[in-house]
Amino acid sequence: MSDSERSQFKSKLGFVLAAAGSAVGVGNIWGFPSKAADNGGGAFLLVYLILIFLLGYPMLLAEMAIGRYGQSHPIGTLSKVTPSKIGKTAAFFIGGAAIVTVTGIYSFYSIVSGWFVAFTTSPIFSAIGCDTTAAWISSQKVMPNVLFTLIFAGMTLFVVIQGVEHGIEKWSRRLMPMMFAFMIILTIFMIFQDGAMVGLKRYLVPDFSKVFNWNLIISALGQTAFSLSLGSGAMMVYGSYLNRNENLPRLAMQVTLLDTGVAFLAGLLIVPAMYVAQNLGVEILDNGKLVESGKLVFDVLPTLFSKLGILQYPVGIIFFALMTVAALTSSISMMETPAAFLSEHFGINRRLSAIISTSIATFLSLIIVLNFEKLFGTVITLSTEYAQPLVSLAVTIYAGWLWKRNKALNEVCAGNEQLANSLLMKIWPWYIRFVCPLLVIVIIVKSIYDKING
Ligand code: PHE
Repeated sequence: MSDSERSQFKSKLGFVLAAAGSAVGVGNIWGFPSKAADNGGGAFLLVYLILIFLLGYPMLLAEMAIGRYGQSHPIGTLSKVTPSKIGKTAAFFIGGAAIVTVTGIYSFYSIVSGWFVAFTTSPIFSAIGCDTTAAWISSQKVMPNVLFTLIFAGMTLFVVIQGVEHGIEKWSRRLMPMMFAFMIILTIFMIFQDGAMVGLKRYLVPDFSKVFNWNLIISALGQTAFSLSLGSGAMMVYGSYLNRNENLPRLAMQVTLLDTGVAFLAGLLIVPAMYVAQNLGVEILDNGKLVESGKLVFDVLPTLFSKLGILQYPVGIIFFALMTVAALTSSISMMETPAAFLSEHFGINRRLSAIISTSIATFLSLIIVLNFEKLFGTVITLSTEYAQPLVSLAVTIYAGWLWKRNKALNEVCAGNEQLANSLLMKIWPWYIRFVCPLLVIVIIVKSIYDKING
């Protein structure tokens, strides 16, 4: 496919919403608030903000810029960066690792997302009096898990199959505003419930004794990479659909701000909600720590909703619909990555490549569903704690060391030529070369060291 025929986002807003859609997901609404509440509240927020802007943003910019430069799937894109043979071999492995990683992430993400669909559907059945069906749907047993994982895969495929402009861009423009609206309605509702203020305090008041805690920093780093979809090829692929007239540093900043803003807002919803639940007699602490996040979303919150009388139906449905929408805009970016590879590398048409990649990933999801105890946690750890940071580290090293400086700068500044002389652009190449890799390496090494030493 020549560059001119390649699909593109048709508008700036479409790109920002699609990329923010990829970034905003389960990580923001469920992961971030519970990590913050457990790790010193405002202190976690502070460390997270520092990491997002010092590390996340420059790396996101690098991934998007490399994608726009290469105009291809991750392997093709990376191999265009350098003519050297070693560079091309490295591109094959790093790009391939990104595709495998994103497929791994999808395989567990779609199961969790299936639960969101199930928990959105279940209150509808109980509202019309079908309590047995409602209970079956939200039982998280094997059969409903299989069913709802397949339904969610169908939703993802439905969007990806329609391509960049008519699928991803169009649906991101519809779904993202809906998600913001749901979130604001629920947050306002929750903050006015009894008990919410205790949660708000726990979330916002910093406990600085925890700031220099390595676990907190590692947890915030993992959250940064996962939340900005780094090291998965997704942002590279989205970048490759972006026009060279667009101001990339600004768009990447908007995506970062939206992602961080939603994570912050989600904290204002989820942490107070836990304390509202506690106020109503639901157990939310386990040995002084908050219950683990899975229990929180699928146990504590539904119990809280069930105590809201008639309001339980709209509140429950809106909450889980919010989660479903957030998850869907992320999962389409996940499946777009292998689909782009299949269609551009093997010349398969978009329809078929979307079907093949979603089917393979869904097959993996079903294997996990059927061996849940053994595989679910392991796949999450492997794909998000190891693969994602390592791949994003590799991409950053690749961008910093193999991409010729002037070419990289030209790409980043295309669409805003004055930027080329700015201080930011004088620092950026060095920053990507030395600072980002070093920071990531230090944190990963420390994390491995801690694991080995218990
Ligand atoms: N950023 C998404 C979230 O926060 C997850 C994601 C990871 C999406 C990797 C795409 C690729 O939930």
